[in-house]
This record gives sequence, C-alpha cells and structure tokens, in this order.
Amino acid sequence: MPSSISISSSTFVLLFFSFSLVSILPPLILSASVVEDLNNLHPPSDFNSTINNNCLNNPSLRYCNSSSPLDLIEIFKSTIVASHLCNESRNPNCVETFPKIDLHSRPKIAPLYLSFTFFWKYCPLTILSINLSNNSIKGGFPSDVLQCSQIQALDLSHNDLSGDVPIQGFSPLTNLTLLNLSYNHFSESRISDSQFFKRFNSSSFLRSGLVPDHQGFTIKVVVFLFGFPMFVILMVGCLGWMCIRRPDFLPAVLRGGKHKFTPAMLEAATGGFSRNNLVGKSEGVDIYRGSVRDSSQVRIEIYRDEISGEGRRRFAEECKVLVQLCHKNIVQVVGWCDNRRLRAIVTEWTEGENVEIWVARSAPPWKQRLKILMGVLEAMRYLQEQWPQVGYDLRTCSILLSKNRQPLISRFRIGDQISNTRKIYKFGTLVLEMVTNKRPREEFERGEAEFIEWIRMHHPGKVHKVIDERMKKTGNTVDQATQGIGIGLMCADLSRGWHPSFDLIYRMMCKLSDSCQVPASPDHKRSHGDRGEGHRRNQSR
Ligand SMILES: *[C@@H]1O[C@H](CO)[C@@H](O)[C@H](O)[C@H]1NC(C)=O
Ligand SMILES: *[C@@H]1O[C@H](CO)[C@@H](O)[C@H](O)[C@H]1NC(C)=O
Ligand SMILES: *[C@@H]1O[C@H](CO)[C@@H](O)[C@H](O)[C@H]1NC(C)=O
Ligand SMILES: *[C@@H]1O[C@H](CO)[C@@H](O)[C@H](O)[C@H]1NC(C)=O
Ligand SMILES: *[C@@H]1O[C@H](CO)[C@@H](O)[C@H](O)[C@H]1NC(C)=O
Ligand SMILES: *[C@@H]1O[C@H](CO)[C@@H](O)[C@H](O)[C@H]1NC(C)=O
Ligand SMILES: *[C@@H]1O[C@H](CO)[C@@H](O)[C@H](O)[C@H]1NC(C)=O
Ligand SMILES: *[C@@H]1O[C@H](CO)[C@@H](O)[C@H](O)[C@H]1NC(C)=O
Repeated sequence: MPSSISISSSTFVLLFFSFSLVSILPPLILSASVVEDLNNLHPPSDFNSTINNNCLNNPSLRYCNSSSPLDLIEIFKSTIVASHLCNESRNPNCVETFPKIDLHSRPKIAPLYLSFTFFWKYCPLTILSINLSNNSIKGGFPSDVLQCSQIQALDLSHNDLSGDVPIQGFSPLTNLTLLNLSYNHFSESRISDSQFFKRFNSSSFLRSGLVPDHQGFTIKVVVFLFGFPMFVILMVGCLGWMCIRRPDFLPAVLRGGKHKFTPAMLEAATGGFSRNNLVGKSEGVDIYRGSVRDSSQVRIEIYRDEISGEGRRRFAEECKVLVQLCHKNIVQVVGWCDNRRLRAIVTEWTEGENVEIWVARSAPPWKQRLKILMGVLEAMRYLQEQWPQVGYDLRTCSILLSKNRQPLISRFRIGDQISNTRKIYKFGTLVLEMVTNKRPREEFERGEAEFIEWIRMHHPGKVHKVIDERMKKTGNTVDQATQGIGIGLMCADLSRGWHPSFDLIYRMMCKLSDSCQVPASPDHKRSHGDRGEGHRRNQSR
C-alpha cells in the first residue's frame, strides 16, 4: 500500500513543479504515512529538468542558489514534507501560498518535522511565521529553524528547550520582529549580547532561563547606585583604619616612604610595647624586639625624651641617611619614627651578643679577634669613602656580632664633624681593648688615657703582661698580638698631631691578617639576607 501511494505522490509533485512559480507544493491528497515513509521515495528521472525550469522561472527559490551540486533526492523529499507541513499548518491554499508553519500544541508531530533537516535547508521563502509553541520539545535550540532567514515571527514558547541560544544565528534574521522563547530552560550563560536583547523586550524571554537586557541593566544600576558607594565607604573606612592603626599595611607612598614608622606601627610590632619584648633599658632609651609586617625580626630603640621640632627634623634627616647604609659590617637600619611623643630607630635584629661580652665570656683566640677588627675596619673604610658625614661609636659594647660572627657597627652620630683623627683614635683603643680584655672607663682611674699609657709602658718588651692571659699563646700568636698592639698604639697616639691614614692602617692590618691566614672578606656590600650558618655556641649562654 504505501509504495503505490508514494508513486502517485511523486507523479504529482512533478506536475506541481512544472506549473507553480512561487510555490513547490503538491495538492492535498497525500496521507500522513508518506512522511514517515520518506526514505522509500525517489524523484522521477527527469526531476532535474523540472528543478532547472523552476529556477529559471523563479531564481529566488532557496535551492537554486546552492553552491554545491543540487542534491535531487533531498530537494525532492523536502517538497513532499513542505506539502504536508502546509496542510498541517492549516494554510488557506497550499498550492499558491505557504505563509506559516503553525504546529503549536502538536507535541506528536512537531518534533518529527523538526527532524527533517533537508526541509529546513531548503526552507520555502514564502514562510513568514513559525509557531512551535506548547509542544514539550526537548533538547537544544532547534537551530535548523533559523535557516528560514526571512521569517518575521518565531514562537518556541512553552517547550523543554535547554542549553545555549545561538544568538549569533539570529543576526541574518533581519525581518524577525516577534520572538517568543518564554517558558523554556535555556542556560543563563550567554546573556551579555545586549544587541540581541535590544531587538526583543522581556516578554520574549519570560521564564526562559535567559536574562534579558533590561534586567541586566537593572542589576548594573543597582550595583552602581548601592554597590559602588558601599565599596567606596568600605575602602575609605579601611584606609582610615589602616592610617590610624596599622599604617604598615598601607602602600609605601601613602605612609611617607617605606622606612617611615608610626607609633601605631611600633605598638603593633612590639605587641603593645609589651614587657616580654623589652630587651634592654638605659637612660631614656627602651630597646624592644619586634616583628614587622613581613614578619622579619627587628630591634626597636625608643627614645622618650622631649625634643624640639627642629631636633625632630634633624633626627629624621639623619635617619634618612642611615637607612641608605649598606655594608656587611654595619647594622641594617630598617626605618625610623619621628613622632612628637615618640622617636625610634628600627634596625635588623641580631641574635649575637656585643663584642665586649663576647671577649669577656668566650676568650676568643687571637685569630678570631683579628677577624672582628678587620670587619670593623672594612666598615670604617666604606663609611669613609661613601658617607664621610656619618660618625659612629667603636666601643666594644656598641659593636654587635651577627649570627655568623661578623662585627656590626650599630651606633651612629651624624653631622657632628667627628674628625678622622678621632675615628682612628677610636679604632686604636678598640684594638687595645680587644687584645687586653680591659674596660678602660671602669678599670682605670683616668680612663682611656691611663689605659693607653699603661700599655705603652709594656710595649713591646713586657707585652705578655697586658695581653688577655686567657688567649692561647700558640705559634706566633704573641708576636701577632704584639704587632696588633703596636698598630693600636699608633692609632691612639694623639701626641704627634699626625695620624696614620685609613689606607695605611688597612694595609698594616691586612698584612697582619695575611700572616695569620685570616682571609679578609672581599665583598663590601651586604645583602639583607646575609644570615649564614653562624656559630651558635654563644647564643645558648
Ligand atoms: C489536510 O488538513 C486537513 C485539516 O486541516 C486534514 O483533514 C487533511 O487530512 C489533511 N490532508 C492531508 C493529505 O494530510
Ligand atoms: C539530469 O540528470 C541526468 C542523469 O541523472 C543527466 O543525464 C541530465 O543531463 C540531467 N539534466 C540536466 C538538465 O541537468
Ligand atoms: C540567489 O542569487 C541571486 C543572484 O545570484 C539573487 O538575486 C537571489 O536573491 C538569491 N536568492 C537567495 C534565496 O539567496
Ligand atoms: C498546550 O497543549 C495542550 C495539549 O498538549 C493543550 O491542552 C493546551 O490547551 C495547550 N495550551 C495552549 C496555551 O495552547
Ligand atoms: C502561537 O500559538 C499560540 C497558541 O498556542 C499563540 O498564543 C501565539 O500567539 C502563537 N504565536 C505566533 C507567533 O503566532
Ligand atoms: C526582509 O523583508 C524585505 C521586504 O519584504 C525583503 O526584501 C528582504 O529580503 C527580507 N529579508 C530577509 C533576510 O529575508
Ligand atoms: C514588548 O514589545 C511589544 C512590541 O514588539 C509591545 O507590544 C509590548 O508591549 C512590549 N512589552 C514590554 C513589556 O515592553
Ligand atoms: C510569549 O509567550 C508568553 C506565554 O504564552 C506570553 O505571555 C508572552 O506575551 C509572549 N511574548 C510575546 C513577545 O509574544
């Protein structure tokens, strides 16, 4: 049965194409089963000439412009589907016109017609409206429909469509004025194409999953009107809090340079100036251990004395110089605070003790004492060459030892015009103090002067009487120490009105050092990370 019908229908299609200019439709005598039986249909042998005639008469037929060779079977099948669809859509006259596809509320057949890809490929140009609403169609957006680019209305509402809407695919549909995608389950993702949403208002997308343009706009307005001021208020509040409480969290520019500390920052660094962090106290100076924002340990010296505005300004100027000093034998100054009620200098934290305690407790061998003196001398030369305006203290108690047993000059005075003679004199007494393990200011009535006289009396003949008796006197140690004392005495000699130059002292000390196989370290600059594996012997004491 079905095969006989198909023969009759194809015969008719042929006839139809011979006469109709505008449409490609056969008359309305085909049964529904033909559509289901499409695969058994074959075009008549001269179908190609029929089509050629059609195209000659009406070049606007969609299949005429196909660039690939015409697929006669597909075109033939599409004409069969078209004739059925025309009737199913209750078009008034399926021979002459085919203005609409109306399959709303036809859930049984709508998916079937949608599946005829070849039909949509050659979508008749007469169709202006497609209504597929209320059919529970499942799956992704039926993109084939968009090949009917001439349509003015497309209704896909009340279905089960999901996934993305191919928004780009709508741009050729310039005549589309009515679109209804409402009541579907599209994904919300592609909602940014405002151009698309401008063409259609929200009633095209009711509960479709898509968010139309004006809702996005509403969100933007809400964000702008409320979110932005809230953000600004929060930022200002946050900044204000930081300015007052933790300026170390502010960018360096806002807090006046990365070396500038405020009382609040120092308070935070020392746990509110907690007694547990107080490591030292002397006239007007409190020394705290603290940790700053990058969690590195620092030493904070706090001066609580009253000082004039001019004094404070000078203090800040000096600190600006100190933070620039960079040498492995100079303590690294991290920053300062020049507040009215509180001044402070912040330096790197050093684990080790000072040279005075080290010599007194550990009785280091000559070789190690010499190494410390070389380090001090290197720092002195660096300061002499690059920062001659910086004065420093060379008492054994103010020279610290770093973790890896390097001496660190740690007390400075700026702009006092300390003469070179004085600096060299100080180095001389440092040498003598370290060789003898004496404290001239405490152990001699007339202080340093008497101390130096006392040594000079014993030099060089009875030098063993002044050398630290605990020092091991092996090999040429005594000879070395004697030479060291000689250099010390020469430096500390103020009587001649002449003093040796830094270079001369350095050369002499180097010679001493060479004969002792204490290599003078060649590099001048010290990086912040110079915390090598040091001797930990003294820390535990
Ligand atoms: C054409 O449509 C009408 C109803 O609109 C229907 O009764 C008729 O059977 C259809 N004809 C074919 C061939 O499908
Ligand atoms: C139609 O197709 C046949 C073979 O299928 C071919 O011989 C004939 O030249 C074609 N005619 C036209 C007009 O393309
Ligand atoms: C097919 O091409 C012709 C000219 O090349 C043009 O006039 C016509 O509009 C085109 N038709 C379609 C449906 O694109
Ligand atoms: C949707 O289709 C159902 C039948 O599938 C029908 O009962 C209902 O009235 C239709 N609704 C609309 C709005 O056309
Ligand atoms: C599609 O059919 C429904 C009836 O279910 C109707 O309400 C709607 O207006 C139609 N859409 C178009 C574009 O004609
Ligand atoms: C839109 O309509 C105009 C006028 O009816 C027509 O010339 C044009 O080809 C149509 N556009 C499309 C994409 O079919
Ligand atoms: C949406 O646009 C149509 C015309 O395209 C108009 O009739 C309708 O009132 C508009 N609806 C809204 C909510 O703007
Ligand atoms: C789309 O369909 C829904 C439900 O049928 C309707 O409420 C809405 O007005 C329609 N929108 C347009 C633009 O026709």
